[in-house]
Formats: sequence, structure tokens, C-alpha cells
Amino acid sequence: MSAEPEYRRARTDDYAHFVRLFRELGVDDPVPESELWIREMAGSTRFLESDGRVVAYVHFELLRTAGYVRHVVVDPLARRRGFGRAILRAVERELAAAGCVEWRLNVLSSNTVAIELYESLGLCAVHPTWILRFPWSSLERLERASPQVSSRRHDPAEDAAVERALSLAEGQLASFRQRSGQLLLRLDDARRPGVVAGFARFDPSYPGAFPFRLRDAGEVRALLEAMRAHARPGQSWVGLAVEQDEELARTLRAAGAELKLEITHMQGPLAR
Ligand SMILES: CC(C)(COP(=O)(O)OP(=O)(O)OC[C@H]1O[C@@H](n2cnc3c(N)ncnc32)[C@H](O)[C@@H]1OP(=O)(O)O)[C@@H](O)C(=O)NCCC(=O)NCCS
Repeated sequence: MSAEPEYRRARTDDYAHFVRLFRELGVDDPVPESELWIREMAGSTRFLESDGRVVAYVHFELLRTAGYVRHVVVDPLARRRGFGRAILRAVERELAAAGCVEWRLNVLSSNTVAIELYESLGLCAVHPTWILRFPWSSLERLERASPQVSSRRHDPAEDAAVERALSLAEGQLASFRQRSGQLLLRLDDARRPGVVAGFARFDPSYPGAFPFRLRDAGEVRALLEAMRAHARPGQSWVGLAVEQDEELARTLRAAGAELKLEITHMQGPLAR
């Protein structure tokens, strides 16, 4: 009879397991290089072993009161044996023990297997997110932003106010800053002082922005122009994650953005 699977922290020599399982996520993202994995991901990655064999991994982000599950993968040869549920239950306990009260994740909307599993653990779909690919050559096709709208680097002293305004988990902005190469850009509108008119976390190496939020879809060009100033030479497009905002997705698609994926954002309380 098999012993209970073992939930354990990642070690640096687990990189090959990570690469093998990461490919099962079915996303376009390049596999993170080993140095980046060791520096920024291994510390919040756990593996599940059964009979001495790695059968699953989970990667999460620990925020102040929320845990963000970024990846969960079970080896294709070990599926439907309860390992997916087991590793999520284990991470749920770990997040709760660390003081989190809720968990969040994003899943491809077509991934009904994973959605069913998450629902059975108490997570609920909150909103859809459209992943668009916007060609920089389409910038001119968007309406010019109002002269009252300006862009600047986000000021960390405003983290809490911006997290509240954008319904981001507490500590999410500080967590973005810890990762290398991330730019936090904000729009202000002189007609509405203090209001966040737009916000993007832009990673020029990806290249993409998530979150990518506008208060008024008509001002999107201002946020894209602020990002463009940091885009790497030779990059012809940028990925944009548009959450819930159908008007913004429509505006971008009418200008030439291509829909790559639809994902569902889920949230739920952590069992105590
Ligand atoms: C999603 C995934 C992690 C599930 O792992 P798993 O070990 O097979 O899942 P479990 O055996 O623990 O099953 C848990 C529940 O998931 C659902 N489920 C799993 N496989 C299913 C299938 N083929 N069809 C329908 N439901 C399924 C069921 O609700 C199941 O509960 P049940 O056994 O009581 O019916 C796994 O399929 C996987 O790694 N997929 C590829 C990567 C991926 O999509 N990850 C999620 C990205 S956000």
C-alpha cells in the first residue's frame, strides 16, 4: 500500500522536475531559467512525492492576508488519484498557518477539470480576464488621451490606497516590486485628483502588463504610451491582461489587439 504523499519545500536540484511539470500548464509562457527559478520561485514552490517519486508541484505567492496560487500541476501519469486535491489542501493549510484568510488564482476558462477541483475547495469564479496581444503599430489607431491625463511611476507610499482602489490583495504591489524588472505605472487625471485613472504592472522582458486597469477605456492610449517608453527595442507587441472590463477589451480589439486566451479569476476563504 502507498504511504501518505509527502508535501515538501522545493530544493535547487528540483529544477528539472519543475521544467517537466511546468510544460503541462498549457500556457505560452517561456519556462523560467534555472537562475530565476532558484532566486524568485523555488522559495514558494512545494512538491508532492509519492513512493519517492515527484507527482505534483504548486507555486504560490504569499501576500499579507491572501495566498495567490500561481501554478498547480500533477504529473500526467499520476492524475485522478487525488494528488491535485492533496497538494492544494496542503498549500491551503500552509497559507492559513501563515496568517492568510483567503486564496486566489487564475485558471484558463476552458480548464473545466481544474475549475471543478477549485470549486470543490471553496473557490468561486469572480471575473473573466482576457489576455490580448496588442501590436505597438496599432497605438496610433487609439484615440488620443485627454491632455488632463498624465502618467508617472507609482509611489510605494500609495500602495494601500491603490490596492484598495483596484481590489488587489494587500501587499500585492510590494510583492510585484520584489521581482526584477517590473515597472509600476500610474495615470492621474487632473479633473479627478487622488483618483487612480489607470495602472499597469509592466514587465518589458515578457513583454506584458497584468494588472492593466483603466478607469475610462477612452484614456488607454496614455497608459500604453507610458509603457511604450520602456519597451525593449525590436518588440513589436505587448501582452495585456484586461480584467472584467469589456469596454476596454472591445476598444483594444477594435484597434487591432488579438485575443490570445480567456482566464477566470477565482477567490475563496481559507478553511481554518
Ligand atoms: C487540474 C489537475 C491539477 C488535477 O489533478 P488530479 O490529481 O488529477 O486531481 P484529483 O485526482 O485530486 O481530482 C480532484 C478533482 O478534480 C476534478 N477532476 C480531476 N480530473 C478530472 C477529469 N479528468 N475529469 C473531470 N474532473 C476531474 C474532479 O472534481 C476531482 O474530484 P473527484 O475525484 O472527487 O471527482 C491536473 O489535471 C493537472 O495537472 N492538469 C494540468 C495542469 C493544470 O491544468 N493545472 C491547473 C492550472 S490553473
